[in-house]
Amino acid sequence: MKNFYITTAIDYANGAPHLGHAYEKVLTDVVARYKRLAGEQVHFLTGIDEHGQKVVQTAAAQGTTPEELTNRVAPMFVELCKCLNISNDDFIRTSEKRHKDVVQAILQDLHDRGEIYKGTYHGYYSVRQEQFVLEKERLEDGSWPELYGEVVEIEEENYFFQLSKYQDWLIGFLKENAFVVPAFRQKQVLEFLKEPVNDLCISRPKSRLPWGIEIPFDTEYVTFVWFDALINYISGVGYGTDKFSENWPVDYHVIGKDILVPPHSVYWPCMLKAIGVEPPKALLVHGWWHLGGQKMSKSTGLKIDPIEFADTYGADSLRYFLTREMNVGQDSDFTLELFLGRYNADLANTLGNLVSRLLNMAGRNCPDGLKAATVEENPEQDLKGLWSQTHDVVVQCYEQFQFHLAMEKTFVFITALNRYAEIRAPWKLAKSDDPADQEKLHTTLANMAEGLRLANAFLKPVMPEISDKICGLLGQPPIERWDGLLNWSNRLEGQVLGGKTILFPRPQAEGE
Ligand code: ME8
Ligand code: MG
Repeated sequence: MKNFYITTAIDYANGAPHLGHAYEKVLTDVVARYKRLAGEQVHFLTGIDEHGQKVVQTAAAQGTTPEELTNRVAPMFVELCKCLNISNDDFIRTSEKRHKDVVQAILQDLHDRGEIYKGTYHGYYSVRQEQFVLEKERLEDGSWPELYGEVVEIEEENYFFQLSKYQDWLIGFLKENAFVVPAFRQKQVLEFLKEPVNDLCISRPKSRLPWGIEIPFDTEYVTFVWFDALINYISGVGYGTDKFSENWPVDYHVIGKDILVPPHSVYWPCMLKAIGVEPPKALLVHGWWHLGGQKMSKSTGLKIDPIEFADTYGADSLRYFLTREMNVGQDSDFTLELFLGRYNADLANTLGNLVSRLLNMAGRNCPDGLKAATVEENPEQDLKGLWSQTHDVVVQCYEQFQFHLAMEKTFVFITALNRYAEIRAPWKLAKSDDPADQEKLHTTLANMAEGLRLANAFLKPVMPEISDKICGLLGQPPIERWDGLLNWSNRLEGQVLGGKTILFPRPQAEGE
């Protein structure tokens, strides 16, 4: 059976990762973990993009070489994945032999079959986006859109890939397939394809750019960074070997909206078509995190260090915030106030409070294990009814990449568990000798524990470390598969719960 194969974009290795990179990895990880819980075999690839002019310029500005820069930056991205609990199965660097070999084999094959020809390139190029820009994209005052940063004019002999030849095929493909998620972005691709596309300039003379993968049939040149970078998605899963079909076609390439048109939606499917490989099944396109209203990026200097942030507040808290506050596909603004608001209201006061109340009461009233839930009145029925609704809605939200809603609904249920505790007030029942009150007390604790066990299954893709901790406190193994675990049960009967634990310590306010 084919794996569910998912990738992130590979980040330019020209500086430390920022929150936008962290978000893309978290988003992809939530999908990967959700799919594993739903029973799929998953292969999750991420990595870094080491070539291109941007890396060369940054290295020069720092008085160092591209090799030294990328070797210094690569471990920062590996560390980012580790510190954010990202469950990637592999990490690819485009400087690796497994990648270079595939890129060169593809270039040679396309050249041999006449898909690549030599010509003169005259046009404009954005170093920041490593992308060709067209005269018609100039703003009224003659300048270029801000996203492009510095735009340079180039005129030189280069190699071209016959992209234009595949335009009609691509339009037909896009009309027949739901390729881009969310769907409104597929329209942007079709809009772009209304005008004839140019053939793609895929080389750079070494005299100007000595850093990149050498063109095998003309060693005076290296290949264009996007032509190289996109191929990571297949070189990383053994293109050209028997193993390739275990993963390809990829289920989702997760990317930001700035690299949809043209690289992922035009170049990539056409490159694959030219080498006779099936196109990706879909692209999942997210928006941008802004910081005080501006796009965060390495180039503009606006950034939050996600590693430092996760160290301060916990990786899962950051993962929760990024998931809860972003409607996939839209943009969102990051502020510390919003983050702390979610941290306090949702994590500390709702989830943390439920856990500490439960452990506290259970430790005092059933140190030998939870007793059976024997009372079934309105509060119990309401709670179970809400779980069955929550279950259906949340599974659907996960399936449709509505992760912010999956979290919202899960927390509505956790809030209801706290409300149930307040209605039953086990702390009062515990003071009564009446056997009926004792039955209610134990029913309440059993239901709080069972409700927490269930809600916790839905937290796992987003907060894997917290979820495992909660399982431990409930005497349960970490959740690997949802199957059989999502129905209201009495599986915690007799279970001794863990000791008091603070899952979300109060963050220190500035200056404390
Ligand atoms: O584009 N918010 O690399 P990159 C959300 N190497 N996402 C953001 C973001 C923000 N503020 N800033 C960047 C490249 N991203 C190429 C990709 S793939 C074969 C080659 C996202 O380091 C961005 O949209 O500039 C992209 O998906 C990823 O981070 C890497 O961006
Ligand atoms: Mg970028």
